[in-house]
Amino acid sequence: MPIMAIRKIARMGHPVLRQVADPVPELRGPAIRLLVEDMFETMDDAQGTGLAAPQIHESLRVVVFEVGEDRLTGREDDAPLGRQVLFNPEIEVIGDEVETDWEGCLSVPGMIGAVPRPVRIRYRGLDGSGNAVDRTVSGFHARVVQHECDHLDGILYPMRMPDLRLFGYVEEMAKNLDADEREVAMEAAE
Ligand code: NI
Repeated sequence: MPIMAIRKIARMGHPVLRQVADPVPELRGPAIRLLVEDMFETMDDAQGTGLAAPQIHESLRVVVFEVGEDRLTGREDDAPLGRQVLFNPEIEVIGDEVETDWEGCLSVPGMIGAVPRPVRIRYRGLDGSGNAVDRTVSGFHARVVQHECDHLDGILYPMRMPDLRLFGYVEEMAKNLDADEREVAMEAAE
């Protein structure tokens, strides 16, 4: 019986983060179950809120995430949600509203950036039991799903930034923000 493990996280610059990941052909079987367990172990150890398989050097279309109380935007369809697994996710943007907020990434450690993203999306995929997932969400929930699914297409959040002046080391950036912004930025860095 294999033992789950904390995996090494690929950092920006590693080619695995630039690849378009392959669809997961078979959801059952010990290998894929172990991969998901390792993703949660690794995410928890790094105190992240989401992780995509390419970040642990597995170029497969799998993401894990959770929607914590502390990051909610107060928007409709942005509610706390426990640990989620999504296989082969697809995203459809709903409406044309875009919002900019701070993001961090375990593959870009110590840094944050202000990233504009569509506010509302519908996403579909399969959960850890192979059941269909079909949700329409907003706010932070929509943001974390977009961020994680971008990893499956070789996209890191700085590539989504129109203004790189708002990209920097979290300690430096936080010094120049007001208290509310600082709190959000520090949480984004986790
Ligand atoms: Ni990331």
